[in-house]
Amino acid sequence: MNSRRIIVTSALPYANGAIHIGHLVEYLQTDFWVRFQKMRGHDCVYVCADDTHGTPVMIRARQEGITPEALIARSHEEHARDFLDFEVAFDNYYTTHSPENRAFCEAIHARMVETGSLASRLLPQLYCEHDAMFLPDRFVKGTCPKCQAADQYGDSCDRCGATYSTSDLADARCSICGRPPVIRESEHLFFELEPYRDYLRDWLPRHTARDVSNKLMEWFGEPLRGWDISRDAPYFGFEIPGHPGKFFYVWVDAPIGYMASLKNWCTRQGESFDAWWNAADTEIYHFIGKDIVRFHCLFWPAMLQCGGYKGPNQVFVHGFLTVNGEKMSKSKGTFISARTYLDHLPPLYLRFYYACKLNGTTDDIDLNLDDFAGRVNSDLVGKITNLASRGAQMLHKNLGGRTGTMDADGRALYAATCARADEIAALYEARDFSQVMVAVRELAESANRYFDAQTPWTLVKQDPEAARRVLTSLLNIFRVLAIYLKPILPSYATQVEQLFGEEPYRWAAIGHPYENQTLNPYTYLATRVDPKQVAAMVERSRQAAPAPSAPAADTAPAEPVKPEIDIETFGKLDLRVARVVAAEQVEGADKLLRLQLDIGEARPRQVFAGIRKAYDPATLVGRRLVMVANLAPRKMRFGVSEGMVLAAGNPDGNLFVVTPDEGAVPGATVK
Ligand code: 2FM
Ligand code: ZN
Repeated sequence: MNSRRIIVTSALPYANGAIHIGHLVEYLQTDFWVRFQKMRGHDCVYVCADDTHGTPVMIRARQEGITPEALIARSHEEHARDFLDFEVAFDNYYTTHSPENRAFCEAIHARMVETGSLASRLLPQLYCEHDAMFLPDRFVKGTCPKCQAADQYGDSCDRCGATYSTSDLADARCSICGRPPVIRESEHLFFELEPYRDYLRDWLPRHTARDVSNKLMEWFGEPLRGWDISRDAPYFGFEIPGHPGKFFYVWVDAPIGYMASLKNWCTRQGESFDAWWNAADTEIYHFIGKDIVRFHCLFWPAMLQCGGYKGPNQVFVHGFLTVNGEKMSKSKGTFISARTYLDHLPPLYLRFYYACKLNGTTDDIDLNLDDFAGRVNSDLVGKITNLASRGAQMLHKNLGGRTGTMDADGRALYAATCARADEIAALYEARDFSQVMVAVRELAESANRYFDAQTPWTLVKQDPEAARRVLTSLLNIFRVLAIYLKPILPSYATQVEQLFGEEPYRWAAIGHPYENQTLNPYTYLATRVDPKQVAAMVERSRQAAPAPSAPAADTAPAEPVKPEIDIETFGKLDLRVARVVAAEQVEGADKLLRLQLDIGEARPRQVFAGIRKAYDPATLVGRRLVMVANLAPRKMRFGVSEGMVLAAGNPDGNLFVVTPDEGAVPGATVK
């Protein structure tokens, strides 16, 4: 087989949010495919990076009181750790905020200028005079013109799904400061697509799946509109040469980031970028979600064509993730971050389950949490792993751990298992991982039937050598299944390599039987999922602060604008030092704690505080806090609240109670 040169990318995750199980649908399937290609002996490089530029990153950093550079450095570290722990094996995980990326952006921009592909036009846009910036749609909030739901984004309504323009919002407000924006004109640069019409119309059907290209073809019914590639300062990104105060729109430098990551890898490996990206026989594949097709199948090939670079061979588009049949939901605890998952369950299970679901189409996939536990337990543990645990343990216990040769039936079954290698390889190539799993499951089922029919547990007493032949057959079949599964379950396969004392498996290891050798001790490969672990993960996600990468978190939370007050008004507040006498959870209120606060009065005050997600009540008892003592008592469902405690709320939703220094006594006034 000739070795191929393959470049593979996954979409670059935004630096302003955490990786979650929705993202992992993409990274895991790309990783399966890349690992498969490498096992086949191909020269395959998997590159990715953090998508670091744009308004959301700039605003989030501002809210956290740090520089965007500090924010993206932190994200990079967190993302890289999540990927490593999920065994997503990038050859390079880089950043779009890199010198290589700037250089590519400038080179492509220069070609746009040279080829006359850029036009400059005045564009009216919403501008916040208070924040002195133009507002992207996601930074404008208001009432949906269709269903009247309050607090909706400037471009679409979360409640009724309507899409509209920001000018349709009845009461548009800047989501950073809450003030109404004004309309202001600014010069924008447009990358004209019409000159690329013929190129794109020819390119599309050959480089994307039919459903994807058919959808995009609808654009070709009328002249292709130019793409606005500039944004005004302040903007975290690369300034456009010759246009002070104008920056490349983040969606320009994000896909160029694929090249920059490859370039960085090439430099470190002593390889030539051109020999990789631009060589005629190199294959380039992008894995993306169906929400970002327009960027990858229209703008990106046009940019590459304009810049004189090779276009992708295929853009592989996948669907979205639903959990229990619905959109991931924070309130239901199904918006699960990669880290929360890892805190509760091994990555192996999710890799296995996603593989069972992914079929290389744009269909959405559902993570049904009951089915997840069921399939891992019945198939991965019960059918597949069972072959090794029963076979290896029996061989060790009774026959010194030494394999012999296979018996006739076993050898036939082993041969039939190996005979499916090409079919399974073709399924991998087509990204039809679900059918890979079907094939492996069928093979495991027939091996289990063989095992049960041979009754080696009886045989071992009557004819130990016959039992050895059966166990040898069973283990050989299992070994081939582990090779088939290696791209999906890499560390599982590594443990199998250790059990058999073999070199890392390549695809070519299929068909070399393992006979007359001694196994290493058996260590557990996979244990059953306890549904309690799944429930605990959901509960933790439900209690967690809104995951930063939720779409809503791309927008800065709107702090209500509070009117200025005079000193007299401030003086009306009776702030006191309070000692926590008792603290407990409130049944039926997942955000509240019931506190008994001593402020030097005859009896403690009862206060309900919304700090449950931040504090274990036991740790609060004895602490000193600050409370508003003259707030009118409020009748709540759980009792009367006789005041309020002060807590700082970080932009990420974390809460911290305000505590006076040591020495302040209960009842002391706070001024
Ligand atoms: O949609 C997203 O999450 C983007 N950050 C993907 C960028 S992919 C590529 F163009 F870089
Ligand atoms: Zn504002």
